[in-house]
Amino acid sequence: MKDGSLNRLFSPISIAGLELPNRVVMAPMTRSFCGDSGVPTQAVADYYAARAAGGCGLIITEGTVINMTDARGYSGIPAICTDAQQAGWQRVTDAVHRAGGKIAIQLWHTGRLGHSRAMQGGRPLAPSAITAEGLFRDFGDGETLAHEIPYEQPQAMSAEQIARTCGEFAAAAKRAKTAGFDAVELHGANGYLIHTFLNAESNQRSDEFGGDMAGRSEFAVRVIRAVKAQIDELPLSIRLSQHAVNNYEWSTWADQNELQTCLELLKAAGADLLHSSGYRLNAPAFGDGESLVAALKRLGGLPAIGSGGITYSNSTAESFAGELPELTDPVESEQAIERGACDLVAVGRAMIANPDWATRVGAGQWRQLLPFSPAMLGSL
Ligand SMILES: Cc1cc2nc3c(=O)[nH]c(=O)nc-3n(C[C@H](O)[C@H](O)[C@H](O)COP(=O)(O)O)c2cc1C
Repeated sequence: MKDGSLNRLFSPISIAGLELPNRVVMAPMTRSFCGDSGVPTQAVADYYAARAAGGCGLIITEGTVINMTDARGYSGIPAICTDAQQAGWQRVTDAVHRAGGKIAIQLWHTGRLGHSRAMQGGRPLAPSAITAEGLFRDFGDGETLAHEIPYEQPQAMSAEQIARTCGEFAAAAKRAKTAGFDAVELHGANGYLIHTFLNAESNQRSDEFGGDMAGRSEFAVRVIRAVKAQIDELPLSIRLSQHAVNNYEWSTWADQNELQTCLELLKAAGADLLHSSGYRLNAPAFGDGESLVAALKRLGGLPAIGSGGITYSNSTAESFAGELPELTDPVESEQAIERGACDLVAVGRAMIANPDWATRVGAGQWRQLLPFSPAMLGSL
């Protein structure tokens, strides 16, 4: 039975023609269980199917790379650029659909945050040859966790490499549609390739892909157009953040005007849905004031997914430092939808710890949710 105070969270919604039974989204989360081949296994299919059976309205997969060379900068992460990988994903979408769910793929290029030690012969790419600050950590490669490994200097992308990469995003999206996905999301957040084009610190180009906000949005625009041309009626989401995983202080958009310029271009190129990545659903995007997701929705004029700390008191960074979260009331999500700050909410760590998160929360049993601990990443 549904908890009456969460009527909006558990009400249906249609996103560019995709009918969802509720507003609960499984956040994209890298799990590194796809070996050297990048092929999702039956265990991966079972993992996602369990979240669909648990009542989640839309699953967004872990970041899935568009090639095995320069895009795959961590070990064990999935890809979708070969027939075997596509067949692996078909197994996943079939399992999710059989369990009554809907599933989007998150397409990813790890950019300058990836390391050549995980790549099959490539080197990290970025808009400019500026090395990321911080240290490379790969959950699929224990040695990088035990020893400090700096990021590598990336190669500044040539016009040909930009065109090739847009083509690879498009080819991956085409495979995703054929493999049965219900939607496609581009990973435009957290310091990876698309995000490094948007950010002025990492993008110091003087050609049409750099300069002002419109120029820095051009790569994302080209990727969106290229992908959209391959997926016909499937909705296209783009995930965006102010921060990068190697620099929480990053502010990609200096102010609302920059964000508006960027979003208008992304929408005109074909984005249907905007997905905010943050540490707290209501954290202000610009000093104080509205959250990033509220700003995305208002300035972008598109439906939006909020995320960050749903039903947990702490952040991912605090979790990885070993802190167990307290449980928090899901009414926060209901209220965000009610006041028009977002349309859907993405649940991350709590969805790893609780495959039946949606069913439990819908039944008013949020106090029985399990807390997340990093040890849970050791198996699917
Ligand atoms: C283990 C793990 C892996 C993640 N991998 C991705 C990813 O591949 N793509 C992405 O956009 N975000 C990724 N994230 C961020 C989550 O999608 C989400 O935004 C974050 O966990 C905050 O939500 P939460 O507080 O509900 O966990 C990851 C988070 C975790 C904990």
